[in-house]
Amino acid sequence: MATASETLTITDNRTGKTYEVPLEDGTIRATALRDIKVKESDFGVMSYDPAFMNTASCRSAVTYLDGEAGVLEYRGYPIEQLAEHSTYLEVAYLLVHGELPNAKQLEEWTNKITTHTFVHENVKSFIQGFRYDAHPMGMLLASVGALSTFYPDANQIKDPEIRYLQIIRLIAKMPTLAAFAYRHNMGQPYVYPDNELDYPGNFLSMLFKMSELKYEPDPRLSRALDILFILHADHEQNCSTSAVRAVGSSQVDPYSAVAAGVAALYGPLHGGANEQVLRMLRRIERKENIPDFIAGVKEGKERLMGFGHRVYKNHDPRATIIKKACDDVFEVTGVNPLLEIAIELEKIALEDEYFVKRKLYPNVDFYSGLIYEALHMPVGMFTVLFAIPRTSGWISQWLEMIDDKEQKIARPRQIYTGERNRDYIPVSQR
Ligand code: CMC
Repeated sequence: MATASETLTITDNRTGKTYEVPLEDGTIRATALRDIKVKESDFGVMSYDPAFMNTASCRSAVTYLDGEAGVLEYRGYPIEQLAEHSTYLEVAYLLVHGELPNAKQLEEWTNKITTHTFVHENVKSFIQGFRYDAHPMGMLLASVGALSTFYPDANQIKDPEIRYLQIIRLIAKMPTLAAFAYRHNMGQPYVYPDNELDYPGNFLSMLFKMSELKYEPDPRLSRALDILFILHADHEQNCSTSAVRAVGSSQVDPYSAVAAGVAALYGPLHGGANEQVLRMLRRIERKENIPDFIAGVKEGKERLMGFGHRVYKNHDPRATIIKKACDDVFEVTGVNPLLEIAIELEKIALEDEYFVKRKLYPNVDFYSGLIYEALHMPVGMFTVLFAIPRTSGWISQWLEMIDDKEQKIARPRQIYTGERNRDYIPVSQR
């Protein structure tokens, strides 16, 4: 309950009336504005906020983000500690359940995920129906949505057991769908999951196994991939997570809600920036070309991709961790020649007044593309590699939404700007 000092006093200058609106967590309820009317029959005042620049759509206990301080925490645990000590599957458990698992819980969770990695054989034929050069994100989007047809009881979202099973299936099957999409592009046979391997190792096996009896993933590459998965697992109410929550609020099954998240992530303003970084570095080509490139950015000709963030106005903590992971990957794959350009670019930009003044730091996408390329991923797969781990974040946020008594079907208001009361004119008279 708000105390008297935790209120906002609003005076409506149209009527001279004063309203006291409660402030909770520094926030007013937008519906409180509806009491502000000139006459009783009025709808009441609304707030207009395209792109949700200043509107909280939910209460959430999943991910904490302080963009000014460069802090990211999952369920209160700093991302740096999770990236150093945890695994993606443990982090997924943490996101879904709210607590880190004990040894037995982790074993059970890992076992459940591992035994749900296979997909129905018809999924294979479904993916085979795509053209040879279909974008893997398009294939992932369609095949995740299609899973709802394989598990029709998934629409019983009020049943905790059924719901939990879909969570397991989603986290387990995303790498399989992603790998099938990749193999389809390559014209190679799909590789079934190897349940003796861990989560990232199995994914690498499904991507790269050829005629060998057993694929042995390099532990350094597996670990680097696992760290990337941890870093991408959740990022509070971004575009794709909001899409999952909005679509899920209609009480549709979680596969359809997650398909909405994949669709949102597909867009170049969201999940596609790492691809652009790689193209930019390739275009710069040599260290000597950097000053000219930076001059062009400062003149507004283009952007330094992988720099800047809507929320982080200090460093993006994920970027620092990824930079370290680069070393481990390059130890196995040999140094990506573009790394030299990236490091020099970062050095120059961080000292340049243009970037310093605007608080532009490297973001998560600045180095991740270099790792993906070193892992022999085609650029089309970059966003897919983001979608796999983000599934645990999407589904945790979906679960929180389902159990939130305050949540209803998402349904924004509008300010109508069109015509009214027109009479239909037959086409012959127009
Ligand atoms: N290069 C050069 N100038 C930039 C850049 C950049 N990358 N980013 C922002 N600016 C400038 C911008 O021109 C503006 O300058 P001025 O005030 O003189 O007009 C100022 O900085 C503020 O920029 P803004 O566009 O108002 O900032 P925003 O919060 O709307 O945009 C952003 C955030 C991430 C879209 C933007 O920084 C950007 O386009 N970065 C490059 C693309 C990129 O790396 N995106 C990945 C984001 S991280 C992945 C994720 O979490 O989804």
